[in-house]
Amino acid sequence: MTANKRIALSSDHAAIELRQAIADHIAALGWEPVDIGPTTPESTHYPIHGKAAAELVASGDCQLGIILCGTGQGIMIAANKVKGIRCGVCSDTFSARMIRQHNNANMLSIGERVVGAGLALDIVDAYLNAEFEGGRHATRADMIED
Ligand code: RB5
Repeated sequence: MTANKRIALSSDHAAIELRQAIADHIAALGWEPVDIGPTTPESTHYPIHGKAAAELVASGDCQLGIILCGTGQGIMIAANKVKGIRCGVCSDTFSARMIRQHNNANMLSIGERVVGAGLALDIVDAYLNAEFEGGRHATRADMIED
């Protein structure tokens, strides 16, 4: 993983507002948001946006990714189809910490219709502040990759 402090951001139409709040939040923390939209509220298809953000992470262009849709589920499923991506949906800070510590998740997914904006930013903080522990967890992450 390239430690370039760039975070890919995308969503579908259901999560534009929260995505923009997260972009501002992570920029204030010293990360570079690479926000690939969409910016208009017309209905769109989350697989397109999940894949696009996942490809930025898988290629190393971005160190991490944060993606959103109504539930966080559909866009997470799409992102995980890209080789090298480990993405989980989080609605609580414990899970957000653990998906980095144990699962080495390089992408986080959040549902705008599931969590409020305040909790979502705490989830982002928990995810970004955690570090992969390696060891037995690396063996398991490698098994997923294989
Ligand atoms: C869009 O209405 C909604 O289905 C989508 O944002 C997401 O929740 C799907 O998983």
